[in-house]
Amino acid sequence: MHPEAAPLIARRHGPLKGRARVPGDKSISHRALILGALTVGETRISGLLEGEDVLHTAKAVRALGATVEKRGEGEWRVHGVGVGGFAEPEGALDFGNSGTGCRLMLGAVAGCPIAAMFDGDASLRRRPMRRVLEPLERIGARTLVAADGRLPLMLAGAREPIPVVFEPPVPSAQLKSAVLLAGLSAPGETVVVEAEATRDHTEKMLAYFGARVRVEQTGEHGRCITLAGQPELTPQPIMVPADPSSAAFPLVAALITSGSDVILDGVMMNPLRTGLLTTLGEMGAVIERLATRSEGGEEVADLRARAGALRGVDVPASRAPAMIDEYPILAVAAAFAEGTTVMRGLKELRVKESDRLTGTADLLRANGVAVEIDGDDLIVVGRGRAEGGGLVATHMDHRIAMAALVMGLASERPVKIDDARFIATSFPDFVPMMRELGADFA
Ligand code: S3P
Repeated sequence: MHPEAAPLIARRHGPLKGRARVPGDKSISHRALILGALTVGETRISGLLEGEDVLHTAKAVRALGATVEKRGEGEWRVHGVGVGGFAEPEGALDFGNSGTGCRLMLGAVAGCPIAAMFDGDASLRRRPMRRVLEPLERIGARTLVAADGRLPLMLAGAREPIPVVFEPPVPSAQLKSAVLLAGLSAPGETVVVEAEATRDHTEKMLAYFGARVRVEQTGEHGRCITLAGQPELTPQPIMVPADPSSAAFPLVAALITSGSDVILDGVMMNPLRTGLLTTLGEMGAVIERLATRSEGGEEVADLRARAGALRGVDVPASRAPAMIDEYPILAVAAAFAEGTTVMRGLKELRVKESDRLTGTADLLRANGVAVEIDGDDLIVVGRGRAEGGGLVATHMDHRIAMAALVMGLASERPVKIDDARFIATSFPDFVPMMRELGADFA
């Protein structure tokens, strides 16, 4: 165990009750800072997620010449430098644990005539970067990177960016966004053709800032996004809605902890992010969407979740992009369901903050749940209860850590995690917020 690791134990205590607001959406928070930095004038952001991942992005855009100020809790101002206007940074840009921050900023820097060093923590240094560098090199950027395509790497942005047509080899909003951000500096149209639609926050925010963006449906699950390059971006106020991927943890905790009744305020209901709600609904979960409304260009709702019986289901691979970050917590819900849950097409989970496919299976196994990995599928045999009593290795992965703690709230014996520190990357107040709802963490 790391000498500074912070172990934590979750135990069954009683129902979870009350009302809470989870922090701002991580995806939108990164994009708000980056687009603000590429816009001339002042972008006002409220509800920004002040998690470590996003703070690393704030630092990076500052190192590239934008002015970024915190004015109050979640209240931030960005004075940008305009499309293509980043200045060469002095030191390396450190993205910590954040694949999103790093990959989006690779795209943003690729469209500027500067060179920058990109780096991150041990988890980020293990993650694949070739997939994003390949299209950026076609746009005209040059990279100096280790043979296996990992950080640290040096990127020299394009002097004369070329618009490209890009078909991502894997469904990835990070890849799509990197190409669109680089394409901002190119003359003519940059096109991304996705075989499976992924979260659309970048294209929506670009359009909101005045870029010409066309989105067309292709086939049953695909989308084609066309961006007209060299736009004049105009700053717009951004209200960041509550993150559905963070809400997933108290939500599932309420479903599996007997007697619970919890309301989560203002959760973003973007249809490319709500795959977990669809799946939990199929499992028989009682989740009400109250006060559905529009906030800052996104539909949001207050979610009321009450404990009740769940049943095992088959989750199709086509749903994976709309719930890609939710599989660890879904697997916990599946353990407490009656019957088998099959989650299909999870190859991308192997290259998240950790190998999440293995990490999720290990989490359940350590706590007495029957689980199997079959190719890219995860199969969980639910028995309506879990033994618990396990020690879970979190591998620098915030979502494995939170999923394991939620499991401990409902299992027969306490669940211990080796290190709670990485929860701060996306949900710094997870522990106090859950305690407020009645969770026993020690
Ligand atoms: C994100 C995209 C997803 C997701 C990540 C955030 C984003 O990654 O896992 O947490 O903000 O674009 P991929 O696009 O690589 O699947």
